Amino acid sequence: MNSLFKSALLRAIGAGYQSLIRPLVFRLSAQNAHDKAIALLRALDGLPFAAAMAAALHRLTFSDTSTAVGGARLSQRLILAAGLIKGDGFADEEQALLAVRQGRNIMPGWRILPALAGPVELGSFTRYPRLGNPGTVAWRNTATQSTQNRVGLRNPGARAAARFLGEGRSQLPKEFGINIAVSPGAEDIDEQTRHVTESVAFFLDAGVQPSWFTLNLSCPNTEDDPQGHQLEAETRQLCGVVVERLRSEQREIPLWVKIGPCLANEQYRKLMRLFHEVGVKAVVATNTLAQPSPDDRDMQAGVGGGDLFPAALDAVRQLVAEVNRKSYAIDVIACGGIVDGASLREYETLGVKAGQYWSALVYRGPFAAAIIESELAQHEHRLRAFHRKSLA
Ligand SMILES: Cc1cc2nc3c(=O)[nH]c(=O)nc-3n(C[C@H](O)[C@H](O)[C@H](O)COP(=O)(O)O)c2cc1C
Repeated sequence: MNSLFKSALLRAIGAGYQSLIRPLVFRLSAQNAHDKAIALLRALDGLPFAAAMAAALHRLTFSDTSTAVGGARLSQRLILAAGLIKGDGFADEEQALLAVRQGRNIMPGWRILPALAGPVELGSFTRYPRLGNPGTVAWRNTATQSTQNRVGLRNPGARAAARFLGEGRSQLPKEFGINIAVSPGAEDIDEQTRHVTESVAFFLDAGVQPSWFTLNLSCPNTEDDPQGHQLEAETRQLCGVVVERLRSEQREIPLWVKIGPCLANEQYRKLMRLFHEVGVKAVVATNTLAQPSPDDRDMQAGVGGGDLFPAALDAVRQLVAEVNRKSYAIDVIACGGIVDGASLREYETLGVKAGQYWSALVYRGPFAAAIIESELAQHEHRLRAFHRKSLA
């Protein structure tokens, strides 16, 4: 389709979301809106023609920005980040498996969102189910297009998630990642290693072949993991066992690692060296930034969106510099405050090939990725026109 028509359509969709839908959504608290969005995704997953319609809308609105990144080939370079399609929380594994046996949709959005948005990262999944934190766990700061959450890794656990996706594997999207988090509370490195290895094995054994796995080493929203598992020796062991397991597969599936913002430059350097040595293909930088929660200053909650952008950009800058300095074969995937063409451009200028987004869905709507790409394309088009004019 004509790109001018596509960008006009996206401008109209973006303006419609901003002036009609967003004000209605923002009348609700962030928590209430989040709960309603999950309920809507669950309902849409169950409608027979919804995924086909979403795929048609995707074709109408998205342009091909295909890229090879982190050992995977993606049709879009903006990926929906982990944390939205992660599934319901359960008190224990038996209950989660029972829900799967009963045919319940334990992962709202798993069909509709990839059809609409393209590449997605599912999870985080921990080895065992988690109910997450109780009460209000989501907030927003509209002035800076930011989100804050302390969901606390609510998820059905890797075994039930793998069984659920395995049973629906004929309908799995063609491009998706699986994000595995180290279990908060599993203090012992051998226990952590067992959890991570078993989690990966559940998916592979269930016939779920993602385009990539991400190991989430940074979970700021669980009281027992305020620092993230980003220490050198532990990280080497965890990444090492997963890379080994994935290498033993017929089809090569790359390992990505997700890390937190605001680590010391020396720590980023050490992490990059060990990722290179172990064979990690990409680093997602960053997860949210732990800050006092709006309701209780003694509780930490992860900030995403505009308020994360400076810290994430700084982390990406340091990581890219290290990759270039040492010629590591690792891609840095930007995550943090990609909410418009300008923020994406800042990352692109650093040499980043792909990005992940979450808060943009709240502020720009379900077509956020296409809108952001279109804004960037228009900006570059204007820049080229300006240069042509000044040369003439
Ligand atoms: C409600 C919510 C839940 C999240 N849960 C996870 C998660 O389970 N695993 C993870 O790796 N990141 C999780 N994230 C972090 C996002 O994937 C992303 O790293 C972060 O929001 C920064 O991107 P943004 O600035 O585009 O929002 C979550 C974010 C939000 C807002």
